[in-house]
Amino acid sequence: MQPQVTVLDAGGQYCHLIARKVRDLGVYAEVAPSETPAVELAGRRAVIISGGPSSVYDPGSPTIDPALLASGVPVLGICYGQQLMAHLLGGSVQKGQHGEYGFAQLDLTHADTMQTDAIFRGIETPQQVWMSHRDLVAEPPPGFAVLGRTGTCAVAAMASPSRKLYAVQFHPEVAHTPCGHTILANFIFDVCGCERDWDPAGQVGSLEDQIRATVGDRSVFFFVSGGVDSTVAYTLCLRALGPERVHGTYVDTGLMREGETDFVRESFTNLTHGSDSFAVEDAGSRFLAALEGMTDPEQKRHAIGEQFVEVQERILEGEHFFDGHWILGQGTIYPDTIESGGSAKADLIKTHHNRVAGIQKLIQAGRIIEPLSSFYKDEVRAIGRELGIAPQLLDRHPFPGPGLAIRCLGSAVDGATERIAEGWILPVRSVGVQGDSRTYRAALALAEFPASDEAAADLINRLDGINRVVVAVWTKLPVGQLRACRAGISRERIEQLRRADAIVRRISRDRGFDDAVWQFPVVLIPVGTENAPDSIVLRPIQSVDGMTANAVRMSAEQLDEIVGELKAMEGIAGVFYDLTNKPPATIEWE
Ligand code: XMP
Repeated sequence: MQPQVTVLDAGGQYCHLIARKVRDLGVYAEVAPSETPAVELAGRRAVIISGGPSSVYDPGSPTIDPALLASGVPVLGICYGQQLMAHLLGGSVQKGQHGEYGFAQLDLTHADTMQTDAIFRGIETPQQVWMSHRDLVAEPPPGFAVLGRTGTCAVAAMASPSRKLYAVQFHPEVAHTPCGHTILANFIFDVCGCERDWDPAGQVGSLEDQIRATVGDRSVFFFVSGGVDSTVAYTLCLRALGPERVHGTYVDTGLMREGETDFVRESFTNLTHGSDSFAVEDAGSRFLAALEGMTDPEQKRHAIGEQFVEVQERILEGEHFFDGHWILGQGTIYPDTIESGGSAKADLIKTHHNRVAGIQKLIQAGRIIEPLSSFYKDEVRAIGRELGIAPQLLDRHPFPGPGLAIRCLGSAVDGATERIAEGWILPVRSVGVQGDSRTYRAALALAEFPASDEAAADLINRLDGINRVVVAVWTKLPVGQLRACRAGISRERIEQLRRADAIVRRISRDRGFDDAVWQFPVVLIPVGTENAPDSIVLRPIQSVDGMTANAVRMSAEQLDEIVGELKAMEGIAGVFYDLTNKPPATIEWE
């Protein structure tokens, strides 16, 4: 299908989100490398340049074919896209000192929002927008009007309407810019004249036809995870081919939540109406042995990826799935096809391991089917609903492939908490994302919940060396006396985390809090006392897609109930509550 809209990937974490938001408007959009020649984009109704971590002055930073900006195709630059447009057209970009991450107030500076600023049509001023940048446009290019500013950013939006060139410094694609949907719709429909041509749920019939055509007279096997993507891909194949020609194996890594394997077994038994096209492989001991003692997040992910490869290869060989009669089915979705994380150029924040090396042979031989490879997550859910898959399966909170391993933090060294004016620096590091780059920093613990939701972001913007803010809800000893002790992954610590997670999940489910959050990681950190070496972190967040997220507060009664049960656990010295949005922290601690 020929896309009406192409999003040029300048390396930003939100590149895919832009394409997805355009598709949500019913218009088919694809992502392409930023340097795609203008002649190849000649048929598009619109081009959007994404954000990215670089500075336009960095050697080798992403650029676009400058001919695009004179080709008559309407272009919207976002964040780095705006800076690039300014840079290429004779404006100037200034290196920022501190950067601006989080909410900002946008003042529209053009009174006439009906004409010059078609992208702001119907939007009132001021507006809350969401920023994540360091550099900024100091001087717009000749012929451009400034359309909006924020307190720290004089050119927050600019346009040359006669040339159909528009740009914004903030991110209209993220949920935290409430008017972003309208801005994108104004651009796509009013400025560019796109037509609605995209509806994923209506494609089930043609997807089944494609599966039958690709598979021919062969059969398909899947490694299913219990997550939405592989479940929907598997079900599509079941519908297209029947249970005799589809097989699914679920690998129990021993890193799953309590009850997970039983839940998956039961759900798939229902999906397959009890046929034997589904099996569970118990590999818990292997995974735990490989991870024993590890503390580094990337090393853990790597070890888990390797175990998956080995287990999968053993199953492929043992069950004769390598024989030419079988092909591999995968629940790969569109963002995974470009690269893990965000896009081809996105800075590595975390390695997700959807494309393990061991399966490459089959992929190279073309013996693979990925029926969902052009869809985004919400589109996959829409297809799943169309297929009649139970909401308990489709609407589950996402759970990371490496499971509890990346919620069981370790420490390679002993360390003391450090008192500063604002609170205590906890001696453990976690992953964060600032701008488009990864950080690995300490967390600041506060004595109590701050009055404002912005307090965490303010503290992180102000203080060096931290990327998270937590509240010490309960500690066995005063926070200043807690220490980090050397610890890595062990069976006992995973068990401890599993118990704590099960307690928190039960209480959250019973109180209906599950429905109020998008995900609720429970994290074990090696901060405690001699006899109680660990603490628990509660990390409930709200999000639309996991790309950005807000920390969510729960009621005092619920928190009391949770803390009451967690503090009764042996070996637990504290309960902390993570207040940090994403960015600057990621959702998971690793
Ligand atoms: P972060 O922590 O990057 O998480 O803000 C965004 C979403 O991705 C999930 N996540 C992972 N999923 N393998 C996965 O399959 C991973 O290594 C991984 N790391 C994070 C996370 O749970 C959240 O939904």
